[in-house]
This record gives sequence, C-alpha cells and structure tokens, in this order.
Amino acid sequence: MNILGIETSCDETSAAIVQDGTHLLAQVTASQIDLHARFGGVVPEVASRQHVVDITRVVEQVFLDANMTWSNIDAIAVTCGPGLLGSLLVGVSAAKGYALATGKPLVGVHHIAGHVAAAMLASDGGTGATPPFLCLVVSGGHTELLSVDAEFRFTRLGGTRDDAAGEAYDKVARLLGLAYPGGPKVDDLAHRGRPDAFLFPRALLEDDSFDFSFSGLKSAVNNEIVKRRNRGQAVLVEDVCASFQAAVIEVLVEKTKRAAVHTGARTIVVAGGVAANRGLREAMSQLAKELSISAMFPPIELCTDNAAMIAAAAYPRAKQGRWSPLSLNAYAQLSLVDWQDGNWPDVVQIVPNL
Ligand code: KG4
Ligand code: ZN
Repeated sequence: MNILGIETSCDETSAAIVQDGTHLLAQVTASQIDLHARFGGVVPEVASRQHVVDITRVVEQVFLDANMTWSNIDAIAVTCGPGLLGSLLVGVSAAKGYALATGKPLVGVHHIAGHVAAAMLASDGGTGATPPFLCLVVSGGHTELLSVDAEFRFTRLGGTRDDAAGEAYDKVARLLGLAYPGGPKVDDLAHRGRPDAFLFPRALLEDDSFDFSFSGLKSAVNNEIVKRRNRGQAVLVEDVCASFQAAVIEVLVEKTKRAAVHTGARTIVVAGGVAANRGLREAMSQLAKELSISAMFPPIELCTDNAAMIAAAAYPRAKQGRWSPLSLNAYAQLSLVDWQDGNWPDVVQIVPNL
C-alpha cells in the first residue's frame, strides 16, 4: 500500500510517498527557516502564505522523485492537528482537493502520532521500531511520554506542564542572541562548553509524576545571564549551553527511566525535533544499556517535521479502511487520545451575523 503524506503544521511544506508504513520511497520538503529567521521565530501568517506557494510543486516533485503517478497511490494522509491553524488548513485543503479529484481515500493524522511513527520507518537497510515501546516525544511544541501498544495505540503517561523541551532550547538560544531555530545551535555550542559551569535547576516534580516543567530552567538561565552582565562579567555562551543542556537531558532521562521501570518497557523510542540532539541520543542509549533494554531513534532527518512520518502513522488506519470524511477539518488543538478514539472536536457551524 502506497500512501502519499502531506505535512504543513508549522514551517515545513513536506510531501512523501511511503510503502506499507515502513519504506520511504521519496520525500520533498520546502523549509521556511530563512523566511522566519529574521523575525526570531515562526510568523504564522507568513508560514501559511508560503505553504500556499509551495504545496503544489512539492507534491508534484515527490511524484517525479518516486517515478510514480496517482495510479500508484492508495491513500492520502495529511496532518490535521495540532499545529498552526492557517498552516494546517493549507495541507488539509490540498489533501481534500487531491482526494476529491482522484477519488483516493483520505486519512487525517495527529502530528504527534506522526513523530512516533517516524521511528517505525526502516532506515539504512535496517528495520524501524515495532510497538510495543515507550516513546518520549520532544519537539518545539510538545514533550510527551507515551506508552505505544502493538495496535499503534497510545496511553499518555505524562507531558510538559508549561514549555516544551524544544521551546526551552529556542528561548535560551534567543536569550543568548543565537539565530532561530536555536536547538541545533545550542546543541553544537554545548559540546564545546562545561556542563558543570552553572548548576541550573532540574524540575523532577512529584515522585509518581511523569510530567515535565521547563519554564523554571529557562528563567534560571535568564537570571544568570542578566546577573553576570550587570556585574560586568563575561558570559561564556558555550558554558551556558552545556549547563542548560545537561539540566534538560538529566530530567528527560530520569523521567523516561521512571516510566520504563513503571511500564516494564523493553524498548525506548525518542522522537520529535529534539531527538536530533546528540547529547540526548547518547544519554538515552546509556540509559537503555543500564536497564538492559534497547533505545531507538528515527534517522536525524526524520526527527524534525516531515511528511514521511505522517504517511507512516496513517498506515495502521488505512489497513483497516478507517478513512476520514471529505469534511475533515484542521485543529490547532487536538488530543492524541481523542484522535485515536475518533472523538474529534465537532465542526463548528459559523452562522453569518445578518
Ligand atoms: O518536531 P519539530 O520539527 O517541530 C515541532 O513539531 O515542534 O521540532 C522543532 C524543535 C525546535 O524547537 C528545535 O530547536 C528543536 O526541535 N531541535 C533541537 C535540535 N534540532 C532541532 N533541539 C535540540 N537539539 C537539536 N539538535
Ligand atoms: Zn513536529
């Protein structure tokens, strides 16, 4: 079964064709990073307008790269939430248009289910992760600890109570005057600094909680920078990055360890944009070794937003013929558990005010 995936939830316009949920045949992604960098973050209206410009050529190019036509496609998968509403609407409208024009069935996909499914794609000749596994999703918008069962169903163990891990990276990068997106830059600088230069707080919350909190850490970094600058002391950016990264990783690893012990997981999967972080990958591999279980990470290029993961996440549904209607909507907020149970928010009827 070949599924065309479309992802436009934030600032990447991406299309991919995936076979049987595991084999990526082709993927084309138009990144908007340069467009938003000068504003220091994603500007939603600018993002949705650029998706409109890019979507058709990205989809046409993926067919050329895969050497395929619509006759080779069995279903269309599209991210329908959560994300930036205007951006999501471009992808959902395009997917519905293609479905209507070609008669191919449609699957609306939850963005986080996509990040999890990225780990299920085969890469480098090897196979991807197969559920059941414990999954930590760490991205710019989410930090979620999920138990993923054999049917590709999710139990939410915990998540962030304030900032997402990637958001904390981007905010700290901004405090340090680093360009957007800050995560990869902080990662690079961290490898050249001393992780024990500053003792930043580790919010571990209650003993029995799998939740996270990163806003206190971000404030602590800010306070330290301001304090030093006010005293006329130099702030060594590499040391701040290394100490901040050490604090983030320690909390992510500790919570994942508790969840792995609690659920008896045999495999830990780390997914989402922050899963590209080298320090986090090393620390999670070390944790898996300590627990005598395995750790898996999607290939780096499939950690950040992409359409292959959306097509992969649609496959278990498509196999069962669980299609979305052509009235599929885009949702800025969408609970993962509601999505998998089919309890989607009602379509709001907008009555014109005559
Ligand atoms: O998954 P993603 O592409 O978008 C969302 O769904 O949010 O994740 C983007 C996030 C950004 O916050 C970015 O700074 C972070 O992932 N990120 C990283 C790294 N690469 C991307 N954070 C830390 N280290 C990295 N190497
Ligand atoms: Zn994402």
